[in-house]
Amino acid sequence: MKGVILAGGTGSRLHPLTRITNKHLLPIYDRPMVTYAIEACVQAGITQVMVVTGGTHAGEFLRLLGNGHEYGIDRLFYAYQERPGGIAEALGLAHRFVDGDRVVVILGDNIVEHSIRPCVERFERQSKGARVVLAETPEVEHLRHLGVPEFDGDRRIKRILEKPKDPPSHYGVTGIYFYPAEVFDVIGRLEPSGRGELEITDVNNWFITQGTMEYDVLTGFWGDAGESIDAYYAVNDFVRQHGANKPAAVTPA
Ligand code: G1P
Repeated sequence: MKGVILAGGTGSRLHPLTRITNKHLLPIYDRPMVTYAIEACVQAGITQVMVVTGGTHAGEFLRLLGNGHEYGIDRLFYAYQERPGGIAEALGLAHRFVDGDRVVVILGDNIVEHSIRPCVERFERQSKGARVVLAETPEVEHLRHLGVPEFDGDRRIKRILEKPKDPPSHYGVTGIYFYPAEVFDVIGRLEPSGRGELEITDVNNWFITQGTMEYDVLTGFWGDAGESIDAYYAVNDFVRQHGANKPAAVTPA
């Protein structure tokens, strides 16, 4: 399985900090944000990784990560997104790198308390389709900033709503996704959303309509450090006290 870390975007929700650097290079406790996603891959046994970045400061990733060996990466690749076109478009740049393999995609601003290794292992056992990782999210206001799944009576995901006014459940879709190589065909057929971007939620809903979307629910803390300056500090406080990517289980879906 390959790993793709998405680390582009304008980071407008963290302006003005992100006028002087890329969001994913800002510190989380004692090291740059993107290194947590790298670590998450390596701990899960994924050592071929592509970092997709964009905008200014892209060169700094090379300076920080180099060829990845220091971080336990066997082969580290880079792609450059010319203009912000959405998460799905950024993933599309990894088509040739993934090269028919399966892929875990991590949004570089997502930080988890517990290792994602159990999710990776479940996806390895999954015969087809895709997999999303959910986090229980009690606050309705928070859910309004996320993808939120709606479940049917059998607790299967019926659809995912992006940033819903009335969230249909108390689970947020985290920025950790698992796809088969077929995802690149799905991305190729996507239409831009109202905000002119290729949405990862549209990709996920395609797999749901095929009946091949599975999910995990994370245990422990999950944070999207790019969501707001307060979320950024909440993630920093958490990681400083408790660490991240620690070995632990996820509850069975
Ligand atoms: C993206 C996804 C959303 C997901 C979130 C997790 O939102 O579109 O479905 O819940 O990441 O971090 P964004 O942070 O780009 O607004």
